Amino acid sequence: MEQSSHTEPILKLEKVSYQYRNQYTAVDAVKDVSTEFCEGKMYAIIGKSGSGKSTLLSLMAGLALPSEGQVIYRGTATDSVDLDKYRRENVAVVYQSFNLFPLMTCLENVCFPLELLGMNPKEAAITAKEFIEHVNLPDSVYKRFPNMISGGEKQRVGIARALASGAKVILADEPTGNLDIANGEKIVQLLRDLAHKDNYTVIIVTHDMSITQVVDEVMRMSDGYLLPLVTEGWE
Ligand SMILES: Nc1ncnc2c1ncn2[C@@H]1O[C@H](COP(=O)(O)OP(=O)(O)OP(=O)(O)O)[C@@H](O)[C@H]1O
Ligand SMILES: [Mg+2]
Repeated sequence: MEQSSHTEPILKLEKVSYQYRNQYTAVDAVKDVSTEFCEGKMYAIIGKSGSGKSTLLSLMAGLALPSEGQVIYRGTATDSVDLDKYRRENVAVVYQSFNLFPLMTCLENVCFPLELLGMNPKEAAITAKEFIEHVNLPDSVYKRFPNMISGGEKQRVGIARALASGAKVILADEPTGNLDIANGEKIVQLLRDLAHKDNYTVIIVTHDMSITQVVDEVMRMSDGYLLPLVTEGWE
């Protein structure tokens, strides 16, 4: 049987620019960015505050379309797909502030994307439990609400929910920003395992320079541009 090759990137940016504008002014937040991301790899995007990292992530997440250029997922540009479906099924975002649904239990949080995919509640609960186990959380979190678990546990629930959506691309904006060093390291290790063992593509935007030591590739944004990494003079 022919082996499928993974040389084609799962996500590709071609000359992507993005401008925020209102009637008074315009901000060029992302400028002419071209790059690609492959399956099974973990990437870090670093750069100063305001350099365009979150904006770039939101373009990859399908939360906005580029002003110019294209974000291409498995060969198809996000400007020619059903963007709601793309956001629901193809990419998942993990946030610094976790963004769990506060009025749902942890189990319900993870069931949510599964039910959106059409699973009945019973099936969804069974599958959600598998994802919760996969991120190394105990059964005891199922019935707790997000305010009844620790920050590290919340982030794991956030990741379990991301996986439950079926997305193979995980976009994480400062996923360790609200965690202490030890918990941050554990979350990074989990994300790394998801890339290296389960073939996810993990893209982490971060100020945490220790993350750059454990990823496969580091990219740096500066004033909207994505630059080749120069190891001197990082901030
Ligand atoms: N909603 C918005 N409307 C207008 N300008 C914005 C908006 N969001 C961000 N910007 C501007 O776009 C540029 C890039 O912002 P972005 O949030 O992408 O930076 P960042 O690298 O994620 O910064 P940080 O590290 O502080 O999170 C900045 O100049 C910022 O002021
Ligand atoms: Mg940001």
